[in-house]
Amino acid sequence: GDGTRDDDAGAAGGDDKIVLGFAQVGAESGWRTANTKSIQDSAKAEGIELQFTDAQQKQENQIKSIRGFIQQKVDVIAFSPVVNTGWDPVLKEAKAAGIPVILTDRAVDSQDTSLYVTFIGSDFILEGKRAGDWLLKEYEGKNETVNIVELQGSPGAAPAIDRKKGFADAIAANPNFKVIASQTGEFTRAKGKEVMTAFLQSNPDIDVLYAHNDDMALGAIQAIEEAGKKPGTDIKIISIDGVKDAFQAMVDGKINVVVECNPLLGPQLMDLVKKVVAGETVEKRILTEEGVFTQDQAAAALPSRQY
Ligand code: AHR
Repeated sequence: GDGTRDDDAGAAGGDDKIVLGFAQVGAESGWRTANTKSIQDSAKAEGIELQFTDAQQKQENQIKSIRGFIQQKVDVIAFSPVVNTGWDPVLKEAKAAGIPVILTDRAVDSQDTSLYVTFIGSDFILEGKRAGDWLLKEYEGKNETVNIVELQGSPGAAPAIDRKKGFADAIAANPNFKVIASQTGEFTRAKGKEVMTAFLQSNPDIDVLYAHNDDMALGAIQAIEEAGKKPGTDIKIISIDGVKDAFQAMVDGKINVVVECNPLLGPQLMDLVKKVVAGETVEKRILTEEGVFTQDQAAAALPSRQY
């Protein structure tokens, strides 16, 4: 090249490589670890220079690293927002600097959609609905009260808000379904276990656990076993993501159903980055395809799980 971008890129690069700044949420879950690895591996495979930061589930950290990317004049910024509000100021700064932004995995609730080029990720409301639909079927024809406890994801995160909503909307179809407790487990195993322990202490009659991700479900399984109950039998468990450990728990009869959420967004993201740098137009919303897995499918599916 003529060196123009290289000079501008400063610390970010010494050759003609595309520089991508990626501000990750954190390392809270197995899903997130797989997502990070997918992004790192595919950046490498595509010869894209990746500047990667981990916000440890804090929005202020993420805003700081996005500002750092703007100062560095990276070619593209991508990030998975910790929470869905409060992004307009920093996104406006990126826009003013002429740096395109790609939202991955989680969206922002900004009214001004010109602040980002595209959003690639799952439909979290649909995931919640799929979880609720499974439960409706499970109790079809039965006329009994079903006491549900819910472990929510991180407060304010799009997947926590949307998975709660999608599930609530679906189960409203059966007046016997009662969500008797609902609290955040912050998408982690440790918090999932802690909150489930408290749920068990204050609610003697829990029929179902709905966990917004596998890590919280896996933590809750420990709590249920320590309370002398059988996960998957005494308490049915619905979870979201589909990491290998959750498939193993299904094989072991401890989780009843997993709604898939695909973290392997790296290849598609790199493709988008290259297109955006080349000035091509891209779709404003790119949906990930995913399924639902029950216990009877788990053993066959486990060996081919990618994450
Ligand atoms: O945004 C995706 C969610 O974040 C995953 O379902 C959860 O495991 C992760 O922490």
